[in-house]
Amino acid sequence: MSTTLNVFYVSISGNTRAFAKRLVALSQVEHAKNAANPLINAVEYDEQADTSIMDQPYFIMVPTYLDGGDGIDNGYTEVLTLDFRDELDAGNTENLLGIIGSGNRNFNAQFGLTAKHYARRYNSPLIGLYELRGNDEEAHKIYAVMQKYQLDYDQRGVKRALV
Ligand SMILES: Cc1cc2nc3c(=O)[nH]c(=O)nc-3n(C[C@H](O)[C@H](O)[C@H](O)COP(=O)(O)O)c2cc1C
Repeated sequence: MSTTLNVFYVSISGNTRAFAKRLVALSQVEHAKNAANPLINAVEYDEQADTSIMDQPYFIMVPTYLDGGDGIDNGYTEVLTLDFRDELDAGNTENLLGIIGSGNRNFNAQFGLTAKHYARRYNSPLIGLYELRGNDEEAHKIYAVMQKYQLDYDQRGVKRALV
């Protein structure tokens, strides 16, 4: 297994950043217990971000910002995360091993919908969803699923498609 899991993320109000920090901290604890457990390298997107993270296998984390609607009949208009999406469009999504999404369950069918849209857009598996700043249980689950997909990539040399 690669010794590092790369995570590229965007955070508008800080929740995704907090969860990224939680994941990094978790990976450091697990790596200290057993060096075979990979560290997480998390890079936040902004206009100055070093986008070379997309030159290697990587995961993304994206919150959901949709303009109104219910996510079933309407409410698909993405706002605030579009610059990140443009950056991904311009990058090498053959290296995009999976999508981690978040949102707020109050949005019902729209919960985490942007991650689902990106999974389709980039034909990459949905690794998992967590709510707001996330918790330890969600972090453990998502860390485990990322490891599974990274190991699979290390063995096969090609990413898995959306299932
Ligand atoms: C204008 C606005 C629209 C939002 N739309 C959705 C939505 O459609 N679905 C959802 O699950 N969460 C929605 N959210 C909640 C955010 O995705 C959630 O607060 C997330 O944790 C923000 O991540 P960030 O702090 O990293 O930007 C919305 C929040 C705002 C302010």
